[in-house]
Amino acid sequence: MSSSAAHRSGRSHAAAPDALMLFGATGDLALRMLYPSLYFLDAAELLPPGMRVIGAARSELAHDDFLQRVREALEVRADGEVSEAAWARFSARLVYVSFDASKPESFLALANALENASRTIFYLSTSPGLFGPICTGLKAAGLAHAGSRMVVEKPIGRDLKSCQAINDVLADAFSEDRIFRVDHYLGKEAVQNLLALRFANTLFEPLWNKSAIDHVQITVAETVGVEGRWDYYDDYGALRDMVQNHLLQLLCLVAMEPPASLEPDAVRSEKIKVLQSLRPIHGREVERSTVRAQYAAGVADGRSVPGYADEAGGRPDTQTETFVALMAHVDNWRWAGTPFYLRTGKRLPERSSEIVIQFRSVPHSIFSGSDLVANRLTIRLQPEEDIALTLMNKTPSLEHGGMELTPLSLNLSLSHAFKDKRPRRIAYERLLLEVIHDNQTLFVRRDEQETAWRWIDAIRTAWDRQAVKLATYGAGAWGPAGAFALIERHGHSWAD
Ligand code: BG6
Repeated sequence: MSSSAAHRSGRSHAAAPDALMLFGATGDLALRMLYPSLYFLDAAELLPPGMRVIGAARSELAHDDFLQRVREALEVRADGEVSEAAWARFSARLVYVSFDASKPESFLALANALENASRTIFYLSTSPGLFGPICTGLKAAGLAHAGSRMVVEKPIGRDLKSCQAINDVLADAFSEDRIFRVDHYLGKEAVQNLLALRFANTLFEPLWNKSAIDHVQITVAETVGVEGRWDYYDDYGALRDMVQNHLLQLLCLVAMEPPASLEPDAVRSEKIKVLQSLRPIHGREVERSTVRAQYAAGVADGRSVPGYADEAGGRPDTQTETFVALMAHVDNWRWAGTPFYLRTGKRLPERSSEIVIQFRSVPHSIFSGSDLVANRLTIRLQPEEDIALTLMNKTPSLEHGGMELTPLSLNLSLSHAFKDKRPRRIAYERLLLEVIHDNQTLFVRRDEQETAWRWIDAIRTAWDRQAVKLATYGAGAWGPAGAFALIERHGHSWAD
């Protein structure tokens, strides 16, 4: 890539890292996502030669036992298609160190394992309670030097204050340009395609505003429940777990102004302007603009499932929401008066994430015999990636006096268009590659994250102060009745 092309794409020429140290190496995220992603990158010859992958976790594990765990996790992820040659190369990179963040001598063990690596990527995939001790320990051991980078998983706080406290600890050891805050939605192909759709085509941009767009819907629906993470989830709930990060990131990508380039700060500065323009939802407004609910027993994925409070580890008195719907406003020239409806929940009827851009109706219809359906652009992010644009068409017929019309869709299936590409790449493959290339475009900047928390905190506080009732919905339903009322009050309806 020429240097100007590298500049435009936001990719840097930093020297390749020589070690990646993964904290929380035996945890769920590491085994389900991170090691498999690294393996796939290695198999595609995208990992720097000689970069060691050092796992650190509390358990005392022999090297071979650790390798076996990684291999087993990989078999699951790769559907049994692990190449022996690629595994031999990948496993030769793997090292395991037993590590206890509360013991200073543990950091000596890390230093030994790093063997003078000078360009280390540290990856915190641990509980947030360990972020502070690990950063402080790395700094004290001289490991947080200028050649190192730090990747941090969510949750980074559960409100603005705790987020700032974590960010302060990170900032004490690493400069902002070396901190990579993960929102794994930004690693999804379909999410990056939003940038391409908006900024690599001229078609939509003139229409991408309040004059042509009536409203926007962003839905991230899951069929799963809390998947054995009850304690974590109960402390967070859907607002903090999903809206604060994934849904707001999607909203930013839909609403932001065209950035001047793909440079990290060009993109992130535009996203933060959107977050700063979000109208706070506070006081009694939460009753009109938000709905919170928890699933009761029902049928999901074709089987009977218990309610949230009765899931393994659950408590009957829990008031945590597993569903949120809300109406947001981006108060700027482009979007004033165009609502953004956000909705996310667990145990919904299907796993689907989509963005619906609902265009306005024609100002005057000359087709008296037919109801006109306003144009709609639907961008499906998962499970399949496709784009549909609904247009009105004439129904073929020789009817006399008037024309019968039907809405039809132009459909673009990305998986069909790119049949020869590996389907459903793990979002972390892209993210790890970007860290290796020292490119922060797909990572969340501190001010961006803190601005998002400020907006979420206002809602959270208002829920508590106004004692907003927690509604219920049966598992397998599209949320409570209030979620339909929320959007219908404004003359709209969810595009299910
Ligand atoms: C995580 C949340 O960030 O995203 C989970 O903590 C959620 O609760 C998950 O299930 C959804 O991610 P994906 O990629 O499956 O849509």
